[in-house]
Amino acid sequence: MEFRVKVDETTEQAVEACRQASSTKELEQVRVQYLGKKGELTGLLRGLGQLSAEERPLAGKMVNDAKTAVEDVLKARQQELRDAEQDQRLAAETIDISLPGRPRPQGTLHPITMVLDEIKDIFVGMGYQVAEGPEIENDYYNFEALNVPKDHPARDMQDTFYFNENFLLRSQTSPVQIRTMERQDPPVRIIAPGKVYRSDSDVTHSPMFHQVEGLLVDHNITFADLKGTLQLFAQKMFGVHTKTRFRASYFPFTEPSAEVDVSCIMCGGSGCRVCSNSGWLEILGSGMVDPRVLTKVGYDPAAVSGFAFGMGVERVAMLKYGIHDIRLLFDNDVRFLNQFAAKGGCQV
Ligand code: FA5
Ligand code: MG
Repeated sequence: MEFRVKVDETTEQAVEACRQASSTKELEQVRVQYLGKKGELTGLLRGLGQLSAEERPLAGKMVNDAKTAVEDVLKARQQELRDAEQDQRLAAETIDISLPGRPRPQGTLHPITMVLDEIKDIFVGMGYQVAEGPEIENDYYNFEALNVPKDHPARDMQDTFYFNENFLLRSQTSPVQIRTMERQDPPVRIIAPGKVYRSDSDVTHSPMFHQVEGLLVDHNITFADLKGTLQLFAQKMFGVHTKTRFRASYFPFTEPSAEVDVSCIMCGGSGCRVCSNSGWLEILGSGMVDPRVLTKVGYDPAAVSGFAFGMGVERVAMLKYGIHDIRLLFDNDVRFLNQFAAKGGCQV
């Protein structure tokens, strides 16, 4: 009888402990305390040895029934606690879908990229192909093959950055003319966009800037073709009323040569800081390809002729968007760059 009291007491305590447990973790401790290998109810089974042989089966059944009863209560409580804990978790993780989302700042294409794309579009539309060349050039392609021998004073026009005697950061995209003509026979009709470098720095000059080279070589190409092509380009780029001015100039690799100016949109031609009070802004150098250059690449100057030009992309961008200082294009101030999102630059 004493044994039965012990079993009942332990069972009651176990059931009470189950009810008191306030989390599945606590409940697990209760399970170990009563039903585990060294648990209190399990321990009672071990005490059976001290009972007489007749008492043993009945007492054994008593403990096993008690265990089953406690297990049932434990299971039920476990389910209750699990449900409660899940509800709590769900409540904590609730997403308020009525809250407006946080807008992410969106980038835009850089104005230089936008202008480069537009220049390419215009010339590709006229049948030009896009060619490329290395930014680290050797002396031969950057100068020598363009009719600028070593120690020639014309080298002073383009002071750039040298790695050693032979290698330099290209000062112009003109070397791509030579590389292209060496590779293919006439007719040639290419543009070559890319970065170029000079030791230059002020409101209209940057030490790194972009040029787009153009080269057309075929039978019977004249200066009129050059003028017509560049006039058409200026009108497509800046509008039909754009004025251009061809100014006699000199380049060692073209003869005759001309620099092309576009009427300054900052001041409308009356003169300002950007156009050095001239009303015009130089955007490119050009001319008829010098016969000596054609001969050097193995073309016959008696059979073919051509024109070439090299355009400053930053200058084009400044004119198009009314930017008064070239350095703004390289500061990467987002307040400046964001203004171009509205100018039709596609969002990326
Ligand atoms: C040349 O570089 C010649 N290679 C152009 C050429 C090509 C002539 C083919 C004949 C035939 P120039 O040094 O003038 O020329 O530069 C061309 C254009 O690049 C200039 O009109 C100007 O728009 C731009 N440019 C020159 N220096 C800078 C600079 N430091 N920063 C920004 N733009 C510049
Ligand atoms: Mg110049």
